Amino acid sequence: MSEQKLHNTVALVTGTSPNIGGGIAEGLAEVGAKVVCVDIHPENANQCAAEIVKRGGQAIGVVCDVTNEEQVKATVARAHSVYGGVDILVNSAVIFNQKGVLDMSLAEWTRQTSIILTGAFLFTKYVARQMIDQKRPGNIINIISTAGHQGQPRNVGYCTGKSGLLNFTRSVAMELIEYGIRVNSLTPTATDPGESIERAERWGQPIANAQQLRNMFEPFRKGAPMRKLPSPQHYAKAIAFLASADAEMITGMDLRVDAGTIARYWAWTPEN
Ligand SMILES: NC(=O)c1ccc[n+]([C@@H]2O[C@H](COP(=O)([O-])OP(=O)(O)OC[C@H]3O[C@@H](n4cnc5c(N)ncnc54)[C@H](O)[C@@H]3O)[C@@H](O)[C@H]2O)c1
Repeated sequence: MSEQKLHNTVALVTGTSPNIGGGIAEGLAEVGAKVVCVDIHPENANQCAAEIVKRGGQAIGVVCDVTNEEQVKATVARAHSVYGGVDILVNSAVIFNQKGVLDMSLAEWTRQTSIILTGAFLFTKYVARQMIDQKRPGNIINIISTAGHQGQPRNVGYCTGKSGLLNFTRSVAMELIEYGIRVNSLTPTATDPGESIERAERWGQPIANAQQLRNMFEPFRKGAPMRKLPSPQHYAKAIAFLASADAEMITGMDLRVDAGTIARYWAWTPEN
């Protein structure tokens, strides 16, 4: 991405691991955004910011639990004091926990759905209030998953949280329309691990069994209509589009960057 589509903007991205969130943060920085990298794990917040700076961009890392209201408020205030505010919010923080309704504990359910839903709620609330106070037309983008559109067994917290986030997006889009704030979502799918393996290495967090990870994604690749899987950079490009003036008439929409997986007729299996 060479065009400086987001020059003079500030993006706040939550959940900046070397996988998708970090890829989005790096991708937005490449097109000119200053980035606030937010994560509960200091190495994912700070390493992401350090890598952006190393590549000539501007970024800060902020350690924050997205479910903690005081920490969220402090993070939004920090973005204001360092960069003057936020133009683009990307709610991406997540934990995975593949359990079903029969075996998931209440504490696990509450934690997973809180990170997905309460985290997006709190950041949207405080960033949108700041945008409104500053009369700043902004963009909010929530990261969904194909599992938010389909009934995956034994992944009940994730499926429920992600489909909730889909309609949270529409509801908030309608509420914030009068302030010139656009709210959209992006649906990734199973993601080619190549780019994340490379990024993890570059960040000094190498993945121990990279080949095993590649093998794990092979069945997903075969099932995808395009017979290849998207990478984080594809999501970053789509987010840069949604946050740019090119998408000025788009709000309340879900943009699926999923190699055709949601559109696939259930009884059709692509040939290998
Ligand atoms: N990995 C995939 O193939 C895939 C597929 C579809 C959708 N997605 C979505 O993409 C997004 C990123 O996924 P990923 O695979 O990069 O996940 P990941 O596990 O690599 O990264 C998630 C990050 O969120 C952080 N986090 C967890 N709890 C937090 C909290 N309470 N406060 C702040 N940060 C917290 C983690 O520390 C981690 O850095 C998620 O929204 C996920 O649902 C991922």
